[in-house]
Amino acid sequence: MVQGSANLNMELTEKWLQDYVDNWVSFFKKQTVEGEVASYIPVLAAADREALGISIIGKNGGTIKSGTIESKFTIQSISKILTFIVACMERGLSYVLNRVDVEPTGEAFNSIMHLEMTQPKKPFNPLVNSGALTISSMLEGNTSDQKLETLFILLEKIIGYRPEINVEAYESERDTSMRNRAIGYYLLEEGYLESDLGITLETYFKQCSIDVTIDDLARIGLVLSNDGLDPDTEEEIIPRKVTRLAKALMLTCGMYDASGKFAAYVGIPAKSGVSGGIMAVVPPRVREEEFPFLEGCGIGVYGPALDNQGNSMAGIKLLRHIANQWDLSLF
Ligand code: DON
Repeated sequence: MVQGSANLNMELTEKWLQDYVDNWVSFFKKQTVEGEVASYIPVLAAADREALGISIIGKNGGTIKSGTIESKFTIQSISKILTFIVACMERGLSYVLNRVDVEPTGEAFNSIMHLEMTQPKKPFNPLVNSGALTISSMLEGNTSDQKLETLFILLEKIIGYRPEINVEAYESERDTSMRNRAIGYYLLEEGYLESDLGITLETYFKQCSIDVTIDDLARIGLVLSNDGLDPDTEEEIIPRKVTRLAKALMLTCGMYDASGKFAAYVGIPAKSGVSGGIMAVVPPRVREEEFPFLEGCGIGVYGPALDNQGNSMAGIKLLRHIANQWDLSLF
């Protein structure tokens, strides 16, 4: 359904816009068979491989939703951009950037090759696991719940309710994640962890296990699109300079070793998660193109069938199509 379309800049009926997106979702849903649902975190294997949904929420109040729109799923790596924002707000940008860089690795999200191949062995960016664990370790608080409290406060401001941790997903990753333990020990040895490794891993597994919907992801994207300001009240939720850096990191690192192609062919900041979520940011437009959200919008996508880079296969194809149809690219 498309609500609040009174301000939609295009002279299009609500139904016409909705039909557009419904048709696109139906088309790309057929391609979910080419992807695989994540199973290295056992609980994720239960996801419906054919699910595909999108929620677009505009600053003008317009919304378009289609496909699998009610499902809750774990936020996974999308949480990394949020903990980065929280760390910058708690500790200051220079403190965080002294410990984690802002460079893409071109590697898988859970690789540590870049740590071993460079000096100093500083994590390249906060969106790969090595950087995210470093960020989780520096969040204020002594326990994982204390460390995540500011994240939950931030999320409640953005999505309008306090989300919950999916305990089954948390325990599933906690009990199987050898790779993150290996990365954690490496960071500990190199002096990048500021908390006990056990607390750091617990914090990270819990943040990745927060349950969200595509509406929630769209609302997060909308706040980032609105330069960190509440889209309704214009109250500052995230400082402008932190918001700017977060969007730059999403554009260059948000889709891991598919970030270059996503920037080239979609052209907007986005962050993926291994349960099939994508959170994307469409800034306000400067061109009078045929685009129904001139004042910007956030997009949430869910499609658990993943490609080889651990990103939602149909979700990326759907976003690429919409980017072409509505000229979303920043460039
Ligand atoms: O650390 C992990 O492997 C997961 N908790 C998150 C990985 C993830 O979401 C990668 N994104 N596509």
